[in-house]
Amino acid sequence: MKQVTVSAPGKLMLLGEHAVLYGRPCIVTAINQRITVTASLDAKPLFTLSAPDVQIENYQKPLNQLGKGDIPKGARFVEMALYNFYNNYNRYTKKSGVRVTTQSEFSSWFGLGSSSASAVCVIKALSELSGIKLDKPAIFNLAYKTILAVQGKASGFDAAASVFGGTLYYISPGKTIEPLNIDCLPLVIGYSGVKADTVTLVNQVAEKARKNPQAVESIYDNIGKLVQQAKLAILSKDWPKLGKLLNNNQLLLEKLGVSSNRLDDIISAARSSGAYGAKLSGAGGGDCMIALYSPEGKLAVSKAIKSAGGQIIDIKTNAEGVRIEK
Ligand code: MEV
Repeated sequence: MKQVTVSAPGKLMLLGEHAVLYGRPCIVTAINQRITVTASLDAKPLFTLSAPDVQIENYQKPLNQLGKGDIPKGARFVEMALYNFYNNYNRYTKKSGVRVTTQSEFSSWFGLGSSSASAVCVIKALSELSGIKLDKPAIFNLAYKTILAVQGKASGFDAAASVFGGTLYYISPGKTIEPLNIDCLPLVIGYSGVKADTVTLVNQVAEKARKNPQAVESIYDNIGKLVQQAKLAILSKDWPKLGKLLNNNQLLLEKLGVSSNRLDDIISAARSSGAYGAKLSGAGGGDCMIALYSPEGKLAVSKAIKSAGGQIIDIKTNAEGVRIEK
């Protein structure tokens, strides 16, 4: 049976989280830790999934039941990606089942976009297997639709990073996907040790906005402005300036109520050890933080993050987007 293996990078939100859900820009980078998906067609009209990293072994569903009933958490993004693909391209593929195996270079606990990367991989793999050549914007559109179906509210920045790779200036829903032509960024990433739930945090912010719309809108505006400045700072490699903007972004996220004591401790330890700036990355409440280090400062910043209880995740930014492996 025809088989294909594809991979896509995870992502790291640099600036603009939450506000990106409300029309403001963000900056995201693709990381060099990847999700790999191997897919093959099946003569039977069945979907079979093995995703050992998220405790899914030999999960099966008839094609005509895709998207229906109770879907285990670890299978949701892959199943909905498949469902969207079949729905969009039904006339070509309605008879073939598919077997999917996913493998991750990083834990799904870090909040580095393993779910959206797996959706991107599945769509790319099916496009290869079915002979329906989808370009990157088409893969992005289906992946974004998939994330929305699972998460309810999402900006799609993670799908954009997984599909296009590099470092992107992004406005939802893919209105602007602008690659920033730079090298790897001097960042240290620390995992807080706490798994955050994006949907809960997004709802929490929405509730705050409902109670106090003007204050929250003005925070979003300020985040949007700071992201514009950060884009210029990144393009001109002005790291001290970018560091200040990271710190300002963190302050605004604290005002939105999405930081945590643990994140605050790790972030302030990174700053005290000489980082140009540091902030949480992603929805908040836990997951990861990033710190921008000065030349020669990487070791000191990493040590400080560790002593404050963070776990260093060794990654490089600006990685390549989705690609066929074999
Ligand atoms: C989560 O990593 C970032 C959010 O802005 C959600 C999203 O953009 O989809 C909170």
